[in-house]
Amino acid sequence: MSKPLRIAVIGGDGTGPEVTAEALKVLDAVSRKEGFAFETTPFDLGGERFLRTGEVLPEGTVEGLRAYDAVLLGAIGHPKVKPGILEKGLLLELRFRLDQYINLRPVKLYPGVETPLANKGPGDIDFVVVRENTEDMYCGTGGFLKKNTPDEVAVQSAVYTRKGCERCIRWAFEFTRRRANPKGKKLTLVAKTNVLTFGHDLWWRTFQDVAREYPDVQTDYNHVDACCMWMVKSPESYDVIVTTNMFGDIITDLGAMLQGGLGVAAGANLNPDPGGTSMFEPMGGSAPKYTGQGVINPIAAIGAIAMLLEFSGQPAAGRRIQDAIEQVTGTRMKSQSAGQMGFSTREVGDLVVAAL
Ligand code: IPM
Ligand code: MN
Repeated sequence: MSKPLRIAVIGGDGTGPEVTAEALKVLDAVSRKEGFAFETTPFDLGGERFLRTGEVLPEGTVEGLRAYDAVLLGAIGHPKVKPGILEKGLLLELRFRLDQYINLRPVKLYPGVETPLANKGPGDIDFVVVRENTEDMYCGTGGFLKKNTPDEVAVQSAVYTRKGCERCIRWAFEFTRRRANPKGKKLTLVAKTNVLTFGHDLWWRTFQDVAREYPDVQTDYNHVDACCMWMVKSPESYDVIVTTNMFGDIITDLGAMLQGGLGVAAGANLNPDPGGTSMFEPMGGSAPKYTGQGVINPIAAIGAIAMLLEFSGQPAAGRRIQDAIEQVTGTRMKSQSAGQMGFSTREVGDLVVAAL
C-alpha cells in the first residue's frame, strides 16, 4: 500500500471546526471507497489560542506544517481579537511562508443552487479565478508619518515582481490548457492597466510574453471594474481569469455570490512546486454569530477537501466528492444559506457521505 496522505488540520475559529469535521467525515468515507489511507493531525491555532497564550504562529509551526502533504483550514477570525492580527499573523503568514503563490477559486454554480442572476444556470456560471497569492498590497510594506495628528500620512504600497507574476501567469496558462473547456480554452487577464501604469504594466507585458508559449489558449484582457460588470452580465464569457492578489480577493467574493454564497465556495492556496505544501479552505469566515448552532453550510469545506484530493494525488476521490456534492445540492438541500438548508451542518455531511 502506498504511503498515507498526511493532512494537517487547522479547524481555527468560530464555525471552522464544525465545517472541517464534516469535511473529514467525507474524507474518511471516500478513502474507504477509493482505497487510500490518510492521517490527520490537528493544529491548535486561531483566536482562542491567541487569547489564551498570546501566540499567533508559535515557533516551529511553519516548519512542522511543511512536513505534511496538505493543510485543511476551517476559518480564522475572532470577535475579541483586533482585525488584522490573525489574518496577517496566521492566514497570510502561512500563505507567504509556505509560498502558496496560487489562490485557486472555482466559481461554479451547482445544479439546484440558487444564483441571484436572473436567467442564468449551471451552464452559464462555471469559471475559475487564479489569484496571485504572495504579492501586491498584501505584502505589508508601508507606514505612518505623524500618526494621530491632523498631518498624518499613511503609505501602503503594492509590490509586484517579474518572478511573482510570471509564475502565476504561467501556471494559469497551464491550468487553462489542462482544464480544456469544451466551449474553448480562454484565459482573461484582469487588472487595471489604465491607472496602475507601473505594476500592472509589468503584469500586462509578462502576460503577453508567456501567452506566446500557449498558442492553443485564447487570451483576453478586462479592467477589473469592467470584469465586475461582465461577471454579472455574462458570466458565461469566462473560462479562466488570472489576476492580482487584491483584485482576486474582491472579484472572488462577487464570484462566490454568483455561485450561491460563501456556504458553497471553496478555494485552494497552492504551492505547485515539487515538495510544496498547499492549503485548502472554505472561502467563508468564522461566522461568530452562528458558532455552535450547527446551522452553517459545510459544502464549502467539503469542496475544499475535494480540491485537496485533486491536488494531492487522489483526483478520482476528489471528483467523486464533487459528484456527491452536486447530487446533494441538486436534490436535497432547500438553500445554501446558514439556517435555511433544511438540515443541520452534520446532516448535510451525512447526505454527502450517503451520496458518495
Ligand atoms: C480571503 C480573505 C483573506 C484575504 C483575509 C481574511 C486576509 O478575505 O481569503 O479572501 O484577503 O485574502
Ligand atoms: Mn477575501
